[in-house]
Amino acid sequence: MADRTRSSRIPGFYKLGIEARRAVLAEQTGVDPARLEVLDRGGLDLETADHMIENVVGLMALPLGVATNFQIDGVDYLVPMVVEEPSVVAAASNAARMVRAGGGFQVDVSEPVMIGQIQITDIPDPHAAVSAIHDARAEVLARCSAEAPRLAERGGGPVGLEVRVLSLPDDPDGGMIVVHLLVDCRDAMGANLVNSMAEAVADDLATRAGGRVGLRILTNLADERMVHVRCRVPDDALDANGDPARGAVVRAAVVAASRFAELDAYRAATHNKGIMNGVDAVLLATGNDWRGVEAGAHAYAARSGTYRPLAIWRDAPGALLGAIELPMAIGTVGGALHLHAGARLCLDLLAVDSAVELAGVVAATGLASNLAALRALATDGIQRGHMSLHARVVARAAGATGDLIDRVAAEIARLGDVKPERAREILERLRESPLAPALDLEET
Ligand code: MEV
Repeated sequence: MADRTRSSRIPGFYKLGIEARRAVLAEQTGVDPARLEVLDRGGLDLETADHMIENVVGLMALPLGVATNFQIDGVDYLVPMVVEEPSVVAAASNAARMVRAGGGFQVDVSEPVMIGQIQITDIPDPHAAVSAIHDARAEVLARCSAEAPRLAERGGGPVGLEVRVLSLPDDPDGGMIVVHLLVDCRDAMGANLVNSMAEAVADDLATRAGGRVGLRILTNLADERMVHVRCRVPDDALDANGDPARGAVVRAAVVAASRFAELDAYRAATHNKGIMNGVDAVLLATGNDWRGVEAGAHAYAARSGTYRPLAIWRDAPGALLGAIELPMAIGTVGGALHLHAGARLCLDLLAVDSAVELAGVVAATGLASNLAALRALATDGIQRGHMSLHARVVARAAGATGDLIDRVAAEIARLGDVKPERAREILERLRESPLAPALDLEET
């Protein structure tokens, strides 16, 4: 059982240097600080990488940040996020702080059931084939179980079988059915488990159906493996200065932004992109197959025939209510995890006990990212926040260190001149007389 006493509320974490942040992280999570050194090398060495994929010529690093303030079902999480885009980690942390003020995120996750698909073609009587396969249900599932005896020891295994007619013999595609194997994969993402089971039973199913075996592969529309997250943000938390009246204005604007995405697929795509900023960043950090989750999320968003937002926001008296739901086919064992030390470390920093628990963290991060984006878009626009973070990057690049980073960044952002030359000029001035204002006001 993971340690539940850590706090994710670490004011000023962003102001610390990398070493100091690591020290706080190690202290809060109980992870040995020496283990964090693996992150100097992107969590992976060349030789290991050479065993992960083919034709390896090197490594490609991305920044790993930690989002603060997350509280999910009463437990604090420091959330590792791998992402190349500035603002995403800060925005998620910020939104998580607002949600925390309303009691944190509440998660509801289904059992970790994946679906394997077996296509059977050239069937003379598809409806008879469906009945024949239903009759053989127990036998087929027993055969699947035998494929993965250790899964049963962990409490998982095949749990269901469904059959659908896709086309009739007089259709141009001929008679075709699909069999769905439902498999509880416990803490594994389950691709290997499900694909092996599908391959093991396919010939037998085709014989019973009187047809030919087609594809045997899991579906990424993992809608038996769902995560739902809800949150409530009080009006005062929505306003930067804690003013509930101004917060109510922000609330109305976020609700209107949600309605926009519900009514317009063009906006829904961007709305969902903002959600995936958070979702993918945690999936990358924890070594999960983010392409699979992306495919599932967008297929789920379009399940009604119209592409819709994965998260929506509604009004309540004095508070904003948010909810997200999406399929979440992820694992905390297997896959890249047995090789990637950085991903294993991130899971230990998160201290999740199961894939089900991780699913809640991932979806909550997606909901937080969505809230931050909508709040920014519905108020100042996102460029202002982007600019102030970008200004810190420019200030650092100009040579600022320590406190000077914030002072230089604040000044170039205020001037609306976020350029290295201006940052260097201000930096020189501050170094010459550290107590002086960064710039004469006349210069603005
Ligand atoms: C940018 O990465 C994400 C946003 O476009 C999301 C949104 O528009 O909701 C800001």
